[in-house]
Amino acid sequence: MRRTLGLTCLFLSTAIFLYAADGAWLHRISHADHDRTSPFGNDPAQLQNAAAAGAQLFQNNCAKCHGSDAMGKYSRPPIISERIAHASDGDLFWLLTNGNPWKGMPPWMMLPAKQRWQLVAYIRSLNLNTPDSSSTSQEKPQ
Ligand code: HEC
Repeated sequence: MRRTLGLTCLFLSTAIFLYAADGAWLHRISHADHDRTSPFGNDPAQLQNAAAAGAQLFQNNCAKCHGSDAMGKYSRPPIISERIAHASDGDLFWLLTNGNPWKGMPPWMMLPAKQRWQLVAYIRSLNLNTPDSSSTSQEKPQ
């Protein structure tokens, strides 16, 4: 009886581990990676171009898991959220480079760094109106 209960608990905690996106990846990022800034800087025109290219990359590579509206699908989390609004550009670049394979997020280092930064610019543009996004290191374009 105890054993069955123990196994049930183990099963449940494994299920939660597998299915809840909890942002644990953010705690694995070094200060240097966290502080890394986009090569597109804060120039609104450059960022807008980068985000447009990133939107295309997102539809080609990411939409099948995160949804073409980036609102998430099944157990795959939305890309528009308070967590993402709070993450730095460096955090997002780190996640795209390394992925979170144990949780089902593939690494994307086969995409050139420039394309990964374009994806970061797109993700950032999606989160400009998310609550508290003003606390990120990015300036909002005027
Ligand atoms: C095979 C499915 C899959 C594909 C394709 C995929 N992702 Fe993910 N992604 C996931 C899963 C699953 C997670 C949740 C990981 C976790 O639990 O921390 C995730 C997490 C994320 C997160 C962090 C979300 C959060 O709230 O913690 C971001 C940002 C992200 N993905 C961006 C992308 C981008 C950009 C692409 C395309 C280059 C992409 N993903 C492609 C499955 C996928």
